[in-house]
Amino acid sequence: MLREKTIVLGVTGGIAAYKAAELVRLLVKQGAAVHVIMTRAATEFVTPLTFQTLSANPVHTELFSLVEEQDIGHISLADRADLFIVAPATANLIGKIAAGIADDLLSTTIMATKSPVLLAPAMNTNMYLNPIYRENEEKLRRHGYLFAGPVSGQLACGWEGEGKLQDPAIILEEAICALSPKDLGGEQVLVTAGPTREELDPVRYLSNHSSGKMGYAIAVAARRRGACVTLVTGPVCLDEPHGVETIRVVSASEMREAVLGRFEASTIVVKAAAVADYRPETRAGNKIKKSVGNMVLNLARTHDILAEIGRHKTSQFIVGFAAETEDLAGNAVKKIAEKKLDMIVANDVTREGAGFAVDTNIVKLISRDGRVEDLPLMAKESLADIILDRVVEMKNQGRRPASG
Ligand code: PMT
Repeated sequence: MLREKTIVLGVTGGIAAYKAAELVRLLVKQGAAVHVIMTRAATEFVTPLTFQTLSANPVHTELFSLVEEQDIGHISLADRADLFIVAPATANLIGKIAAGIADDLLSTTIMATKSPVLLAPAMNTNMYLNPIYRENEEKLRRHGYLFAGPVSGQLACGWEGEGKLQDPAIILEEAICALSPKDLGGEQVLVTAGPTREELDPVRYLSNHSSGKMGYAIAVAARRRGACVTLVTGPVCLDEPHGVETIRVVSASEMREAVLGRFEASTIVVKAAAVADYRPETRAGNKIKKSVGNMVLNLARTHDILAEIGRHKTSQFIVGFAAETEDLAGNAVKKIAEKKLDMIVANDVTREGAGFAVDTNIVKLISRDGRVEDLPLMAKESLADIILDRVVEMKNQGRRPASG
């Protein structure tokens, strides 16, 4: 995600400075080149050696260090940054930026950079609520500075409240977001993910192997690209994606209610969920007792949510999925016409590395005008971006979605 990106990470003096080490590790794991600048106070909490070891780059601490100036220099660091992160950012540092003070290496480099700056504040609750701090933060937001956190929790000073450093994994997510194109800005994206469960009795249900990974990857990618995202998810073991409105449902009928309730306000709908086509006709109130012979289950059809939104569509761009085990393209094309879709993502779930409960997928993207794009095995995260690329292209080309 951050391959070939240069990130300058400023670390200021607060107890949360140790968490910046984890952030460096996460950034490096994503492929970023990380250069750390520490304030003098930060070096009282964590040694530069920690950051040097994790980033595999020299750590910068002094504004006037001849050796550093020869090698890199603060202006050079400011110029090379694709993104500047400060974590933790103290009230002091935020106050300095807001006042235009550049009196050490970190504040000078921030003043000189043209890259986006993402600040992850951490401080005592009363400092955070102090009107002077609030004004500084407001001012920086107006000037386009980005903020990640802080969050509420137990603070090192003993207070409980807002002021705790945001989780490094979420700071990483905000960093990726800051570097993503905003080609879905203004879009309301509705994504479905995961399986549904259709209860037979209080302890048994019918379901499928969907893990939710495909749908969650689409929701995360759409949010990174500037969309306002709602995710309707069946029962899965994944964490709720940061910054995405997540609605948890269990059955096909609950999923239908959640989707229909949000459909009108949506501009793009992506239906990656594996919704049950059938449910037990009746749900027993008590656990069904076993008897000697076989048992026959009567199943009733669930509502086809995709077909239903196809009938109600006005200007929404609808992407359906098709999980097929035979005649992949033929069945997918039939679904486009029947359900008034703009695009379908057809996965042959018999192929290794495709479909349910794996991190990868192999699909054909078929658009309403019959274009077929055969994609190779790839991570679901990469596929999510390609699907969204095609949605953006089709919308930009002014291909009017089929009306209902
Ligand atoms: O969740 P993962 O483990 O990552 O796996 C991903 C996936 C295999 C679930 C995903 O890639 C996928 O193919 N999702 C659709 C699975 C499916 O139910 O396919 P289908 O051919 O049965 O349904 C076609 C479309 O109709 C789908 O968009 C489905 O959401 C929708 N549908 C189906 C039945 C129903 N009652 N209502 C619906 O809206």
